Formats: sequence, C-alpha cells, structure tokens
Amino acid sequence: MPSHSDEIRRIFYGRRRGRKLHAAKRQLMAATLPRFAIGLDAGLKHPHNLFDPPPARLWLEIGFGTGEHLAAQAQAHRDIGMIGCEPFLNGVAALVETIERNALHNIRIYPDDVRDLLDALPDASIERCFILFPDPWPKRRHHRRRFIGAANLDALARVLCDGAELRLASDHRGYVRWTLFHTLAHGAFEWTARGPADWRQRTDDWPATRYEAKALARGDECCYLRFSRRSRSLVQKIDDGNTDALPPSTR
Ligand SMILES: C[S@@+](CC[C@H](N)C(=O)[O-])C[C@H]1O[C@@H](n2cnc3c(N)ncnc32)[C@H](O)[C@@H]1O
Repeated sequence: MPSHSDEIRRIFYGRRRGRKLHAAKRQLMAATLPRFAIGLDAGLKHPHNLFDPPPARLWLEIGFGTGEHLAAQAQAHRDIGMIGCEPFLNGVAALVETIERNALHNIRIYPDDVRDLLDALPDASIERCFILFPDPWPKRRHHRRRFIGAANLDALARVLCDGAELRLASDHRGYVRWTLFHTLAHGAFEWTARGPADWRQRTDDWPATRYEAKALARGDECCYLRFSRRSRSLVQKIDDGNTDALPPSTR
C-alpha cells in the first residue's frame, strides 16, 4: 500500500476552520469525536471491522460539509457502514452533533484529507462513493486543485468494488463538463445516464446537501452524475484492445 510518510505532504487548499466553536460543541467534540473518528492505522486494513457489528457494505462520502447527506443516508441504511471525510472542523462538529442526536452509530469520520484515506483503504472495499458539490475552483490557474483528476480517479478506481456507484453533483457547468471529460477518459468508469432526466434531477435516494440548497436558492441548476465502476476484467479486456467488450453505444 502506498505511504506518504516519505513524500511531500499533500496540500489541502480548502478551509480547515471557521468560526470558533461554542464551549458546548468543543466539549461534545472532545467527548464524542474519538468514538467515531478513524485514523490511518492498521484498522483500515479491515475497514468493516471499524463498525460494531461489521456491516456487509461500506459507502464513502468525500467532503461531507456539514454532513446532512451522510446522516440521511446513515439513517436510511442502518445496515451499511458510512465513512465520511471532511477536513473542515466546523463541518465535522456539525455532523458529530447529528450523530449524537440521532444515534447514528453506523458512521465513521476521517476528519482530514480523503486522499490519505484512499491510499490506506484496501482494494475493492467501497460499494458507493459520493462527491457532492466539490469545490469548483473556477479560475483556470486553479483547475489543477479540482478533486476530479487522473490521480484521484486512479485511487477511487482501486478502492471501489466492481459495479460500485460513484455519485457526483455540482452546480458548476464547467466542473460538470470537466468531470465527464476526466471520468470517461479514465476508462474504469461508465456514465450510466440514459437521458437528461437522469442528470437533471436527484432521485429520492439522494438526499439534499447544504450547498445544493444554496445553489437552488440562487436559481442555479444542479447536475447529478452517476458512474459505475467497470469490472476489473472488462477494464483489462479494453486495455488489451478488445473493444467488443465495450457496450455498443461506447465503441
Ligand atoms: C463546496 S463544499 C460542499 C460540502 C457538501 N458536500 C455540500 O454539498 O454541502 C466542498 C467540501 O469538500 C471538502 N473537501 C475538499 N477537498 C477535500 C479532500 N481532499 N478531502 C476531503 N474533503 C475535501 C471541503 O472541505 C468542503 O467542505
């Protein structure tokens, strides 16, 4: 498994802290976060065992913000282990409060940069991944900061199981086009939309997020993209030049 101990520490360009937490929240964080937080230790070799009881399936949310989507998924799927990553302390504190209020014991939090977690997770360990309203970094000179790119798609392709779903939402047209371009060029992912209704609307099993609410309130349109992680055997056939292995529409 790759390690970053001997490499330059990755740069995280987002915010790690906002307003100072109130004393009650600081106390809650000190008492409760350690029960749900996970680190980059040996426990990640068997991530199902981070939960009690160990679930059959694991889902991952990258950049959960204040955690409303992750909490709603955890509430709706008590049998699934939810791992959420978010380096923004105030967002983590908001989710910890929700976990405590709703006894959502099927959530684990990695309160830092997901790229380090992705490196530590085993191959084919995640069945669904959510990246909702990632920072769009609209200026051209900042595009390389965007989360979607070859390196992170490689890491995602490794940890996702064959047939796993990757969901991404954005209200930034440029980022939607960027995501489609990079994800389809990668080879391990297939866009599963059959028509505009599939990317213009969220389905009932896709709870709203705070950023989506803000975008809709401004009158912006949001796009909801679903990709399927191709099976490793299919990707191998395609890499070997067997394009008959591809669905006819993509040959
Ligand atoms: C625009 S916010 C969207 C938050 C939330 N998903 C929503 O829709 O309301 C993007 C979030 O991604 C987080 N983020 C950015 N890069 C990340 C990374 N490498 N690992 C984990 N989270 C990250 C940021 O801290 C930020 O909270």
